Amino acid sequence: MNITIKNIRGEECACDALICLLSEDVSGELNELPQTIASLIRQVVSREFSGKPNEVFLMKAPDSVKPQRLLLVGLGKKDQISAEKIRQAGGKAATHLRSMGLKKAALSTDLLYGMKISPAEFVEGALLGLYTYNRYKKDDDKKSLESLMLLAKSSAELTKGLKRAEAVSAAVCFARDLVNTPANDMTPTEIAKAASSLRSKKISVRVLDRKDAKKLGMGAFLAVAKGSKEEPRFVVLDYKGAGGAPVVLIGKSITFDSGGISLKPSEGMEKMKYDMAGGAAVLGVMKAVSAMQLPVHIIGILPATENLPGGSATKPGDVVKSLNGKTIEIINTDAEGRLIIADALAYAKRFKPKAIIDIATLTGACLIAFGNEAIAMMGNDRKLLDSVKKSGENTFERVWEMPLFEEYREYLKSDIADIKNIGGRNGGLVTAAYFLYEFAGDTPWVHLDIAGTAWTEKDKPYVPKGATGIGTRLIFGIIEELK
Ligand code: BES
Ligand code: MN
Ligand code: ZN
Repeated sequence: MNITIKNIRGEECACDALICLLSEDVSGELNELPQTIASLIRQVVSREFSGKPNEVFLMKAPDSVKPQRLLLVGLGKKDQISAEKIRQAGGKAATHLRSMGLKKAALSTDLLYGMKISPAEFVEGALLGLYTYNRYKKDDDKKSLESLMLLAKSSAELTKGLKRAEAVSAAVCFARDLVNTPANDMTPTEIAKAASSLRSKKISVRVLDRKDAKKLGMGAFLAVAKGSKEEPRFVVLDYKGAGGAPVVLIGKSITFDSGGISLKPSEGMEKMKYDMAGGAAVLGVMKAVSAMQLPVHIIGILPATENLPGGSATKPGDVVKSLNGKTIEIINTDAEGRLIIADALAYAKRFKPKAIIDIATLTGACLIAFGNEAIAMMGNDRKLLDSVKKSGENTFERVWEMPLFEEYREYLKSDIADIKNIGGRNGGLVTAAYFLYEFAGDTPWVHLDIAGTAWTEKDKPYVPKGATGIGTRLIFGIIEELK
């Protein structure tokens, strides 16, 4: 979708539809509009249209104005309007116009400026909402919204906001594509290719294979990779927009999680292609950071492998040695995410990072605790935790903190090794994180469990059904605030 800025009034704008944002208490907004348009809207208000959040109503515009139609979009109660409501309105408006086969839209921005919300939020929602995944569909519906004209005075601030909105939404859509792609086409090798596609002056990419991982001593990562013929890849991206200690991002990249010998039930197993959503988010962040040329040093690590029950697969009871020397008794081969992240944490620490953030579809227990609404967060550094929480509120990729009480260490005690990979049924969300904590040590670290939020079964205003791309906007928001 092409986005332009034009400093004219709505009634003078020749377009298929002029988007009018309206709260439940429309009187104020109507006063801003030209008389002919306002009186027409008054006729439908409180009958066909009430201004509830994300309500849309398309109507013919009066003949005396240039837009052909008006699209009324509800924002809900006036005192509850936020950047998030505007992003949702953007997604809802754009997808509705597309479904009606309309091509050219315009948005009057007076109301937004009045509330100190950037029109860029609306644009971000529109671009995210218009995402579709049609790689495998031959005769796909070709409808597309071609352009959105923002009716506003051009300014450096607006241009910058739009550039950011476009960079962020392109990054999220990139991540969504990776996650939506089925496991037969999104192999660890493909993940490495996607990472390599980000190579630039500032980004270098290193790809380690099975042999390299063996040489280094990544016994935990290899224990997962062993059950599959598909070659694993341990991918390291280094974005150098500044010197100094890096922030390391680790993204779980299990391209398919069958559970291994501790096989999952077949019902719903097809979903386990999304077990690389953490890795996709990390690649999304790298892409956005690079597009915005942020002056930061960020390293992204993606341990990528399948988890399959092949003839040489790891067996419950096996003991392996991780990169940091700790031995792990693998009680359940389906608790594989923490194994590959353990080695990635050990590898990350070699960079002497100022912080590590790992993001992973780690536990079913996360889904049980929060449904699809929150990312579970645990970590060892208050400042870092708070910065994640703040970005979660700004981006509406909301996080909820869970405890890392030292009592949980007991749960992971093994009779024959330094640690075991599961802590029993109870407390599954926190014991998984506690396992990682044992590898993060005292480096400031946050773990994000996105098992409940990386996939959606229903369309949301700016998140179509399927991969959500969650984590990209959240972590990008944290990095933007790095000092
Ligand atoms: N990838 C799964 C977690 C998951 C479950 C993600 C549902 C998304 C939706 C993870 O590898 C896993 O299998 N975890 C096990 C751990 C258990 C064996 C301790 C789980 O949560 O059941
Ligand atoms: Mn698993
Ligand atoms: Zn998994």
